Amino acid sequence: MRSKIIGITVATLVLMALAAVAFGDGRTDGTGTLPTGDAVRGQALFEQRCAACHGVDAGGTAQGPPLIHPFYRPGHHADAAFLVAVRRGVTPHHWNFGPMPAIPDLSEQDIADITRYVRDLQEAAGIR
Ligand code: HEC
Repeated sequence: MRSKIIGITVATLVLMALAAVAFGDGRTDGTGTLPTGDAVRGQALFEQRCAACHGVDAGGTAQGPPLIHPFYRPGHHADAAFLVAVRRGVTPHHWNFGPMPAIPDLSEQDIADITRYVRDLQEAAGIR
């Protein structure tokens, strides 16, 4: 009887540990982590979906701010902030362009690719 209880306890602990490995994905802030991005794919997507407001090469337009800007460096806007911005849209808080609409049809991989492209541009501009 006693060994059966110990057996069940051990089995439960093993299952909990396995579940933690299977479902733990490094999410600490509820916003998610992005897969590794491909900057070449990201550039094409950026030009189609973001450049109208953020400008070709992310230099900004009359509709939206530059992303090549110290506000958006990785330490201030982590990659997860790109995911949240695209999924939920952005309430204006840094500029006076008005809100950014959500763009719901981009996948996490698409957003990761776009983010990688923007990070490369930031790094080339000395923003890191
Ligand atoms: C219709 C115009 C528009 C489009 C299209 C657009 N944005 Fe934005 N975006 C904005 C504006 C305006 C802001 C600034 C809001 C503010 O004042 O902080 C912004 C802010 C952001 C921010 C900063 C979010 C934050 O937390 O401060 C990120 C990241 C971003 N955009 C990424 C993107 C990406 C990636 C795309 C393309 C998939 C995109 N945007 C397309 C208008 C746009």
